[in-house]
Amino acid sequence: MEVKIKQGSPEAEHVPLLCLPLFEEEKLRSGPLAALDGACGGLLGAVARSGDFTGKLWSQLLLYNPNEAGPRRILLLGVGKSEQLDLERVRQGASRAVKRAGELGLSEITILFPTHSRLGTEALAQALTEGALLGDYRFEKYITSRDNGTKRVQTVTLLTRRTVDAGQARAGIARGLVLGDVVCKVRDMVNAPANELHPTEMANRAVQSAKQYGYHAEVLERADMKRLGMGGLLAVAQGSDQPPRFIIVEHAGTSRKATPHVFIGKGITFDSGGICIKPAPKMDEMKGDMAGGAATLGIVEAAARLSLPARVIGLVPATENLLGGSAYRPGDILKMLNGKTVFVDNTDAEGRVILADALSFADRYAPQSIVDLATLTGAVLVALGQVATAVLGNDRKLVAKLMAAGDRSFERLWELPLWDEFDELIKSPIADVKNSGGKNGGTITAAAFLRHFVGSTPWAHLDIAGTAYLDKNDGYRPAGGTGVGVRLGIEFLRGESGDGSAGRAAAGGRKRAGRASKKAAGRRTRAPHAAAAKGERAGRRRRS
Ligand code: BES
Ligand code: MN
Ligand code: ZN
Repeated sequence: MEVKIKQGSPEAEHVPLLCLPLFEEEKLRSGPLAALDGACGGLLGAVARSGDFTGKLWSQLLLYNPNEAGPRRILLLGVGKSEQLDLERVRQGASRAVKRAGELGLSEITILFPTHSRLGTEALAQALTEGALLGDYRFEKYITSRDNGTKRVQTVTLLTRRTVDAGQARAGIARGLVLGDVVCKVRDMVNAPANELHPTEMANRAVQSAKQYGYHAEVLERADMKRLGMGGLLAVAQGSDQPPRFIIVEHAGTSRKATPHVFIGKGITFDSGGICIKPAPKMDEMKGDMAGGAATLGIVEAAARLSLPARVIGLVPATENLLGGSAYRPGDILKMLNGKTVFVDNTDAEGRVILADALSFADRYAPQSIVDLATLTGAVLVALGQVATAVLGNDRKLVAKLMAAGDRSFERLWELPLWDEFDELIKSPIADVKNSGGKNGGTITAAAFLRHFVGSTPWAHLDIAGTAYLDKNDGYRPAGGTGVGVRLGIEFLRGESGDGSAGRAAAGGRKRAGRASKKAAGRRTRAPHAAAAKGERAGRRRRS
């Protein structure tokens, strides 16, 4: 999809569809719209007199211009009260307009750019572009007959009546295009069936993206995991004929020696539950149990494509959780990468087992922060539904910064308490910790388990089981994979490097980053995998 900005008058646009976002209090015939009303034979005035269109949030009215001049169709789109307009309403509005254009079989749409300076030209342009791309998403790769009449929208023109800063508008559009594209790629990965997207395919896509956009990718295979001692990842992978992969991607930012931010994503390409097998209904949705991993790959790709100054590393332990003859069993005791032992209470609590090794691995980078994203527990759906992602962590400032980034991107987070009392529930009499704390406080005990594998680095865990996969469309979030986490992660990173509005909003945060890097001084900041891999057979790993 192409998005462009253009200055002009709506009545002069001879386009198939013009979308007019209208506030509740806006007069259809007055002021700036009078000329358009004239061009279409008093059509807007007639609507105004009828009182049928009030600008109520997300109300729509499609009008056909009887005259030759001007837009052929006009879509009135209610956007509610003007004082309530925010970037999320802008995203939602753009997505609704583009969806309607798609339903009409149109390949282009012109949207009147809101002249709401409070939100800023760049942020507005970004939000409109994101909404357009995210709203137009469809997963249709496997549909062989194309006869449902909807075409894809190719061109979105943002029409401004007054002059806006073209540089700002273009910067906003450019960022929106990258984020929209990456989120849609992540959705494609989440929606891809597990017979297509196994761990090797996931790794191949990461390597391909790194080649295309000029960042680093490295893939560890089973032999590497054995040598390193990743007992958790290896145990979960035992039940599947698909070999596991540990994917490492890195965007160097301004310096490969800088203290990095590490993202970790759960990459279970299918979760059957293992020996503790899940019930059949909705088990198909467990093809999406790699949504955290996909989002992690997306964050690093977007960081590279946006040339963010921060050094960003993504780690994705990827495997299936199946029940082959060598599958790990309840009662097994695992030796993890950091030396701790885990009692397997439930083979369906596999996500935390693979993440544990990734968390210990991440610590070797002596990073500023570790953020993991995982479809980890059904319990988070009980707590927060499909509206909010749960956040838990060991560092108040990191959690606060992530929550603020969540508000800005509208990928919102809600904190759950990671109090020490919850550790009681995951104690084992015969191992250091067990992998399930039972039903009560399920999201919290999962995070309490993860904490055993984090060092002193500021760390936050995002449980996206409720937000990564929807059973029905919700605005620009489609049924199936939502791509949640990418826009949040990029917004967080932009705040960390003091970029634009995000930077101003997170101004207090930079001090702490400085302290963290001092603390890290003298500790190893080189990529640990490179060192660990020395002397290994060539060809075991693929690099780009
Ligand atoms: N992948 C699931 C969590 C999940 C559930 C994601 C629903 C998306 C929708 C995870 O591996 C799992 O099975 N968790 C168990 C943990 C339990 C056994 C302690 C759960 O939530 O039931
Ligand atoms: Mn599971
Ligand atoms: Zn799972």
